[in-house]
Amino acid sequence: MSATLEWISLVAIAGVLWLGGGQVANRQITFGELSAFVLFARQIFDPLRQLAEKFTVLQSGFTAIERITAILNEPIEIRDPEHPQTLPGHGRGEVRFEGVWFGYKPDEYVLRDLNFVIQPGQKVAIVGPTGAGKSSIIRLLTRLYEPSRGRILIDGVDIRDLTQMELRRCVGVILQDAFLFSGTVVDNVTLGEEYDLEQVMAAAKSVNVHDFIAGLADGYQTSVRQRGTNLSGGQKQLLALARAAIRQPRILILDEATASLDVSTEYTVQQALEVLLRDRTAITIAHRLSTIRHSDVILVLKKGELVEIGSHEDLVATNGLYASLYALEMMAA
Ligand SMILES: Nc1ncnc2c1ncn2[C@@H]1O[C@H](COP(=O)(O)OP(=O)(O)OP(=O)(O)O)[C@@H](O)[C@H]1O
Ligand SMILES: [Mg+2]
Repeated sequence: MSATLEWISLVAIAGVLWLGGGQVANRQITFGELSAFVLFARQIFDPLRQLAEKFTVLQSGFTAIERITAILNEPIEIRDPEHPQTLPGHGRGEVRFEGVWFGYKPDEYVLRDLNFVIQPGQKVAIVGPTGAGKSSIIRLLTRLYEPSRGRILIDGVDIRDLTQMELRRCVGVILQDAFLFSGTVVDNVTLGEEYDLEQVMAAAKSVNVHDFIAGLADGYQTSVRQRGTNLSGGQKQLLALARAAIRQPRILILDEATASLDVSTEYTVQQALEVLLRDRTAITIAHRLSTIRHSDVILVLKKGELVEIGSHEDLVATNGLYASLYALEMMAA
């Protein structure tokens, strides 16, 4: 647009000059005057063009403001209760789902009437085809979403009666892709909470991660780039383990936590996990059934419904969905 404007104006000015020249009798324009004219004309139009460019920048700024306000105006659905309860001090991480229904959209249920109890200290695995609702169970347990119907209890307390802070403290989650922030290794383990360096080191030692951290360029003060781009997937996962270990959660959840690791890193992580899971309720989600066959209880989920429940041996003997998934895996191996 500014180029057209420039042309129109140039022609207009040339016209004015020509008319003006007509009044100055019989005078020819010199080459010097012509080049001066062109140069001055540029000097007029450059700032105008710059103004036009700034206008587009301003415009995209306004669009950004609009989008940010739309997010800020989004109503907060999950709030802390007015009179929060606390978890009983003697509780050791019992999880109970009572008639839980849930859908991301109203009337499109992805979880249907779930009823189960996980005893304190039990190692439980959730398996099922992709899209069955495994991760959704975890999102409900950590209260990222609320059930449409039914309730979830931890050590006998409805999680809606807990503050989100307390819930986060008692439930630790390790996902397939650990999220790291830019900052030091220590920052990424403490997440801004008050732990001193000794505590961070003790947590790292407890899950065999100390040697790895000590081997980094600046040890515990090594800076981690945004999203941990200077660390490998396995290394990020090791930091996530230390992050969980320092908080000593009653319940630890692993959603495909070792799926993207190579065999030797997976072995290190598995060893660390064994330490971390001792005396703790653990819920593991895994596609590879070989990694969860030693679980105390296996919950088999299909299209949001709990179709089988039992130990590996029980389920293989039942000859249902689990047995067929397991047989498939054995065939592929
Ligand atoms: N944020 C979301 N919004 C709408 N629907 C979703 C959302 N997340 C998941 N779903 C739907 O919910 C269903 C269950 O998804 P979920 O992530 O719990 O599956 P999953 O069992 O963990 O699968 P996978 O093994 O692939 O991780 C799927 O049909 C999925 O399309
Ligand atoms: Mg999932």
